[in-house]
Amino acid sequence: MGYFRIDGPVSLEGDVEISGAKNASLPILAASIISDSKVLIENVPDLLDVRTMIDILRSIGMEVSFNKSRVEVFPAASPNTDVPYELVRKMRASFNVLGPLVAKYGSAKVALPGGCSIGVRPVDFHISGLEKMGFKIEIEHGFVKARREKIKNARITLPKPSVGATEHLMTTASVLEGIEVIIENAAMEPEIVDLQKFLKEMGVEIEGAGTSVIRIRGGVKTKTVRHRVIPDRIEAGTYAIAIAATLGKGKIRNLIPEHLNSLWEFLEESGVDLEIRENSVEISMDRRPSPLNIDVAPYPGFPTDLQPQMMAFLSTSVGTSHIRENVFHSRFLHVDELRRMGAKIELSDSTAIIEGVEKLSGAPVNGTDLRATAALVIAAFMAEGTSEIHHVEHIFRGYENVIEKFRKLGGGIEYVEVNEYVD
Ligand code: UD1
Repeated sequence: MGYFRIDGPVSLEGDVEISGAKNASLPILAASIISDSKVLIENVPDLLDVRTMIDILRSIGMEVSFNKSRVEVFPAASPNTDVPYELVRKMRASFNVLGPLVAKYGSAKVALPGGCSIGVRPVDFHISGLEKMGFKIEIEHGFVKARREKIKNARITLPKPSVGATEHLMTTASVLEGIEVIIENAAMEPEIVDLQKFLKEMGVEIEGAGTSVIRIRGGVKTKTVRHRVIPDRIEAGTYAIAIAATLGKGKIRNLIPEHLNSLWEFLEESGVDLEIRENSVEISMDRRPSPLNIDVAPYPGFPTDLQPQMMAFLSTSVGTSHIRENVFHSRFLHVDELRRMGAKIELSDSTAIIEGVEKLSGAPVNGTDLRATAALVIAAFMAEGTSEIHHVEHIFRGYENVIEKFRKLGGGIEYVEVNEYVD
C-alpha cells in the first residue's frame, strides 16, 4: 500500500505506448480453460487483475507461465473445479470461469462475486443464460454450484448488453459439441470481437461478435492456439484525456483508433486538436475545454470506463457540462474527491452536472476504484499545488507501468510506501 504524490500543474508532453487490453486478456485467459492443448497468448499486460486470473487458472491445476507479456497455458492433468472466495472476491471477472469449468468437466463451484464500489453488479444474466443451455445451478452459502445435465440448443436474450455475460456464455457454449447457442442483445465491445477470434482459433464455429447477435456451434479442436490481444482502448483513452486535460501535446502509439470513436468526437467538440492515423493519435490542446453533454452507453457509445477521467477533464470547462451514466447508475464515487480539489459538481439521479472552474487545487484524496483513481491522477496533474492520492493500489489493477508512462510524458509521480493501515 502506498500513495501517489503529484505536484501540478504540469502539461503532459511526449509519446506513450499502449499495452494489451486488460478486458480482453481476462476473458481470453478464462477461455483457455476449454482448450485441450497448449495456448499461447501474447501482448498480455502485467496487471494485478491478470495475475489474479492466472492464480485462478493455477488453482484449477493448469500450468501457466507469464513472461514479458506472453502467457503460456497447459491444460490441467487432474482439475480442481472449486474456485475459492479469496480469489473471486479480488476481481469480478473471476466468476467467468464457472461456465467453462462446468461445460468441460461436468461440475463446478465458484464463489459469488460480491458488491463493488462502482455499484451493484449482479450475475443474474450469467446464471439464467447457463440455465437456458441446460445446466443445473444452485446458489448456497455464497457459492454457485453448477452441474452439466441435459444440454440443449438455446436462444438467450440478454435483458441488457452485459459484457461479462456475453463473454461467459460465448465461452461456455463453445465447449458444447453439436449444440447451437444464439445470444441476442449481446454486448458489442471490441474485447468481445477479440474473444471470438480466440475461440475461432480453437476451432469453434462462432460468428456475430461486434453485432448484437452471436451464434455459436460448440466444439473445440485439439490444436495449439496462438493469439495476440488487442491494445487497451481504455488505457489509450485515459492518456488521451490526460494530455488534453493538462493542455499538453502528445502522441498515443499502438492503439486501434476506431475503438475510441466516441471519445474522439467529444474531444474534438470540446476544442482538442486530433490527428488520427492508422494506429496512433496525436493530441494537442491549448485552452480550457468547451462544455459537453455526454450520454455514457454500451459500445459504440461513450465508455463508462472513461467517465471519471472525462469528468476530471470537464471540471475546468468554460461553461456547464452534463454526464449521464447509463451503465452503472451510481458510478460517481470520484465526485466527492474531485470536489475536494475544487471541482463544482452536482449529482441529480444518474447525471453529473459539472460547472467548469478556472482551475483545480491540489488536495489529499482517496482512490475508490480503478478508473476513479485514474481520474484523480489526471486531476492532480491539472491542479495547482500538491495532491496526495491514497488507496492508489486500484490503479495497478488496470494500468501497466503507469508511473513510468506518466513520467515519460513529463508527469512526475512519487510513489510513497506506507506501512500502517489507514481507512
Ligand atoms: C465489463 C468491464 C468493465 C466495464 C463494464 C461495462 C471487464 C473485465 N470489465 O464489466 O470494465 O465497466 O463491462 O462496460 O470486461 N448486469 C446485470 N446482471 C448481470 C450482468 C450485468 O444486471 O448478470 C448489469 C450491470 O449491473 C450493469 C450492466 O449490466 O448495469 C453492464 O454490466 P456488464 O457489462 O456486465 O459489466 P462487466 O462485464 O461486469
